[in-house]
Amino acid sequence: MRLLSVTIENFRNIRTAQVEPSRQCTLVVGPNGQGKTNFLEAIYALTTLRPLRTSRFVELIRFGSEKARVEGRFELGGAQRIIALEISRGVRSASVDGKKAQSLSDYFGGVSVVAFTPDDLSIIKGGPEGRRRFLDRAVFNRFPGHLESSREYLRALRQRNQLLRSGGERTVIEAFDRALIASGSAVIARRIAFVQELSEGFQNSFEAIAPGDGGSGLRYVPLCGRCGLSDVGPGGAVSFDSIQDAFSCLLRERLAVDMERGFTSVGPHADDISVSVGGRSARAFASQGQQRALILAFKIAELENLKSHLGVSPLLLLDDVSSELDPERNHFLMDYLRGAALQCILTTTDGNLVAQAAGSEACFLEVSDGEFSLQKST
Ligand SMILES: Nc1ncnc2c1ncn2[C@@H]1O[C@H](COP(=O)(O)OP(=O)(O)OP(=O)(O)O)[C@@H](O)[C@H]1O
Ligand SMILES: [Mg+2]
Repeated sequence: MRLLSVTIENFRNIRTAQVEPSRQCTLVVGPNGQGKTNFLEAIYALTTLRPLRTSRFVELIRFGSEKARVEGRFELGGAQRIIALEISRGVRSASVDGKKAQSLSDYFGGVSVVAFTPDDLSIIKGGPEGRRRFLDRAVFNRFPGHLESSREYLRALRQRNQLLRSGGERTVIEAFDRALIASGSAVIARRIAFVQELSEGFQNSFEAIAPGDGGSGLRYVPLCGRCGLSDVGPGGAVSFDSIQDAFSCLLRERLAVDMERGFTSVGPHADDISVSVGGRSARAFASQGQQRALILAFKIAELENLKSHLGVSPLLLLDDVSSELDPERNHFLMDYLRGAALQCILTTTDGNLVAQAAGSEACFLEVSDGEFSLQKST
């Protein structure tokens, strides 16, 4: 997959921009507040239909404009495809080759993106909700069906919570549980499968960025561990049936408490992932630099994993990554970017920090007050 060109209109502070990124690294340079993150956000919204920072799409429309539009021309498996996103007040619409997208898989087919933003740095120490969202974004990339299972699960969860709140009968609640267990187990299964796939690559890339920090670990910690499903780290095989059994056992165990409290207290919406550094909990003990290295290691492992399992090389968006890293870690990252055969877009306030990533075909863009100008292509 490759992004050949992107056209942006009235998106945040970008009135209009037309950019043809390099097939390798595109370096977007400019002072604070000029539109660097906005540019990545436009590409991110286009390729995922999700906002990068805010959850409100209307905020993406340029002040005083009626609608924002982002259009990308991609090369996908030898063919070209144009996908477009339009956001007008309250409505978001997506099209593929000029026609309204019929389904999400129709829209996404083959387009994937991995993004790093400074906001990701709060993941390690923040609450489990942030970690679940972070994990799910990566799982959607790897298993597109995860989106549908997650939505089904949330629907079933809302219904169950409504029943619990309104004092529904135990037998009625149990009848509703079937849908909850089926979709919830699918969500858990994909998260487990993803973490297992990622674990080794995550450890390796952390070791490369931060040698001497004692290694890292990643585990999915399902609440149904209490019903016999163990924490899931590298290697352990878990069958779908055993997940279903453990989840339904847990729901039964908690039913009385849930009826009393009026909400569902267990399930994938309450699970967590545990990240460790040097054998200790990263949430409790990781330093700032280690947190950055952990998130980067996760992103690099995610990218490599997508390449090896789906055969696609996602577009990598790195927002202001270098200013968050010490020289040694930055050096590793830039070396990796230059060596890896991938398309990436990097933003920075200081071009010197990322110059090392520029391979033979890099492209330098300068941004000022939402306007982009090509400085040079190597
Ligand atoms: N909907 C909007 N309409 C117009 N301007 C907006 C909108 N949303 C944000 N902005 C403006 O965009 C600018 C910020 O852009 P952006 O976050 O891309 O900066 P940046 O270049 O990444 O800066 P930094 O280096 O500080 O991260 C701010 O001046 C902000 O007021
Ligand atoms: Mg920024």
